[in-house]
Amino acid sequence: MKLLMVCLGNICRSPLAEGIMKAKLPNHYMVDSAGTISMHEGEHPDKRAIKTAANHYIDISRQRSRPITRKDFETFDKIYCMDIAVMEDVVSKTKNEEERQKVSLFLEVLGDHKNAEVPDPYWGDMNDFEKVFQLLDKGCEAIKNQLSK
Ligand code: 4NP
Repeated sequence: MKLLMVCLGNICRSPLAEGIMKAKLPNHYMVDSAGTISMHEGEHPDKRAIKTAANHYIDISRQRSRPITRKDFETFDKIYCMDIAVMEDVVSKTKNEEERQKVSLFLEVLGDHKNAEVPDPYWGDMNDFEKVFQLLDKGCEAIKNQLSK
């Protein structure tokens, strides 16, 4: 099973989601992350994201930002999007229904469709990053339970 976490820049939300999900799942799961823009390509995650993860004993410091590619729609079984704008962008890159079926909103798994977006902490402070971490942790736990059903 191969899971891809996607946000805008791939330096804040999806790197955290990747780190949290990897920490929860056995090694035979492949977890990666990507962004819909290539502006931060090659960069490590935002320092605040690295620090927030480290506060929870998760190391995301060696990750590098990359944009989502067409190949990802073949490689991955599930593609989780952090917000609706990201989801729309990702869906627009799909070529057929099979690929479309792989794409979902990350927080949909919690069943609360009104609050299904992971807020972008990029313009916020450490407190916002911690809130995002908690939200991602809840989502990852629910996804893990869903996958083991
Ligand atoms: P992310 O956060 O999508 O969670 O990685 C952002 C990172 C960079 C920008 C926006 C959001 N940016 O505008 O550069």
